[in-house]
Amino acid sequence: MSHLLDIEELNITFGGLHALRDLDFHVEEGEIVGVIGPNGAGKTTFFNMISGMVRPTSGDILFEGETLVGLDPNQVTQRGIARTFQNVRLFANMTILENVMVSQHCRTKRGVFGSLFNTRAFREEEAEIRRYAEEVLGFFGSRLVGYRLEQPASVLSYANRRRLEIARAMATRPRLLLLDEPVAGMNPIETAELTRLIGRLRSEWGFTIVLIEHDMNVVRDVSDRVVCLDHGETIAQGSFEEVSSNSDVIEAYLGRPLESKK
Ligand SMILES: Nc1ncnc2c1ncn2[C@@H]1O[C@H](COP(=O)(O)OP(=O)(O)OP(=O)(O)O)[C@@H](O)[C@H]1O
Ligand SMILES: [Mg+2]
Repeated sequence: MSHLLDIEELNITFGGLHALRDLDFHVEEGEIVGVIGPNGAGKTTFFNMISGMVRPTSGDILFEGETLVGLDPNQVTQRGIARTFQNVRLFANMTILENVMVSQHCRTKRGVFGSLFNTRAFREEEAEIRRYAEEVLGFFGSRLVGYRLEQPASVLSYANRRRLEIARAMATRPRLLLLDEPVAGMNPIETAELTRLIGRLRSEWGFTIVLIEHDMNVVRDVSDRVVCLDHGETIAQGSFEEVSSNSDVIEAYLGRPLESKK
């Protein structure tokens, strides 16, 4: 039986730079896997490659047993993979509601014809898209709903932009969700809250998750398994305790052993 995601012997080179080297990686259905490593280790490149933004130089990426290599980002989304970006990407001039509604377009059936002639089926589908967008936004409490729905995304605080990005990814109804540094720039209270929400993304929404994160408390609290990259290679993998006490990981990334959690 294959894993949900299976990456085999993957290489990516940018000119002379070997950004990912002979990478093997897998994710089981229902897992939360944390990916850590120093700046420039290749973590975001790893997401770019899964999501079809960067093509591997060699190797294969299998999702539900079928290759993703050669698909463009929209096709990867349609196959059931959604991601967020380290540098948040939203439609700043669209409303919060519209931002989440448009990200569902990969799932809609009625095309231009339906919208031009405003058919009943089209109106029903629009209503369902709106309902689902509000449901997804409601996951973040009162922050993104009510009067906020009609505000442009540009007025949102930084933390709310990150939440909206996650909402947009959720709206595509993925099986696999890739989160690139979701708590970066958040204060400790916001971080703790989002950490709990990440757990609920699995338990209530059924998403399998790969999480890139520099905040080791978040990685410890949510990950079933942790993989550490350095210079494009896996230098350790296992439980959080195993990886965070690995001497190569301490040398390349952590700098010193972590204090155990009280
Ligand atoms: N499109 C590209 N063209 C050339 N080099 C690239 C490209 N994308 C990434 N790189 C290089 O690949 C290496 C890995 O970058 P990447 O952004 O994946 O690191 P990262 O692990 O996400 O780091 P950080 O923790 O800072 O986000 C870096 O040396 C980066 O400069
Ligand atoms: Mg990165």
